[in-house]
Amino acid sequence: MYANTSSKVRKVTVPDLRARKSPSRSIAMVTAYDFTMARLLDEAGVDVLLVGDSLGMIVQGLDNTIPVTLDEMCYHGRAVARAAVHAHVVGDMPFMSYQVSSSQAVESAGKLLKEGAVESVKLEGGQEIAEHIFRIVRAGIPVMAHIGLTPQSVHAFGGFKVQGRGEDAAERVLADARAVEQAGAYAVVLEAVPPDLAARITSEVGIPTIGIGAGPSCDGQVLVCSDLLGMVRGHVPKFAKRYAELGDLVVEAARAYVDEVRSHAFPGAEHCYKPNTQTEPVVELRH
Ligand code: KIV
Repeated sequence: MYANTSSKVRKVTVPDLRARKSPSRSIAMVTAYDFTMARLLDEAGVDVLLVGDSLGMIVQGLDNTIPVTLDEMCYHGRAVARAAVHAHVVGDMPFMSYQVSSSQAVESAGKLLKEGAVESVKLEGGQEIAEHIFRIVRAGIPVMAHIGLTPQSVHAFGGFKVQGRGEDAAERVLADARAVEQAGAYAVVLEAVPPDLAARITSEVGIPTIGIGAGPSCDGQVLVCSDLLGMVRGHVPKFAKRYAELGDLVVEAARAYVDEVRSHAFPGAEHCYKPNTQTEPVVELRH
């Protein structure tokens, strides 16, 4: 009746994450959109893989996340979920897949679990979507909330702008944090808010806060994988620390390949099949 859960690597669960409130071990979350990258991030010990709707920008080359569809999220979710042996997989609910009504929100969240193979869903918004969060959680689907700079509201904000500056704005973000906690979210992403506000929210709510551009006091951090790995050309937000320069490495490697193809240095003898070996496979089947 129950799936075999006896493999050696332990999967991170929602109760595990809920228990990771400071001063325990901080939660390390990274976005992933495909199997290959997700597998490497999982191997590195990342706790949570976020199938973010930022894939609109990173994978599709869009200016913002608004056009991303639920079917696209499901497609990428399945690819990431296949790779996640250890990490918990959370999927973003895209713009207009939950804003219309609580029923729409529950249906979309269910589809993301059933067809996108994610283990929890993330929604942008605070007090105004608390009822939707409550209904999704009541349907048995864990919810990660996302407040502060919510990129799906880019046009309402007039751009990707820091939120919660000034007393009134800070009170609004704090009220959002309380509302999503009360609605049953197991964690909350705080995006682009001043560090003192993030520290206050972290100390006042009982669920883990996961910061992106929110300073060091959160219970965890999240970065977009292409920012973290230095693969993004053009503008990179101030908070996005680059831990490698993979973009430069890719260009360097591809240039070397182009040169070797043109000079016939590639392929060498070691890359060619032997003429008389019948059983040499092209690729070993994976089991
Ligand atoms: O879609 C995304 O990448 C996100 C992160 C910025 C938190 O929501």
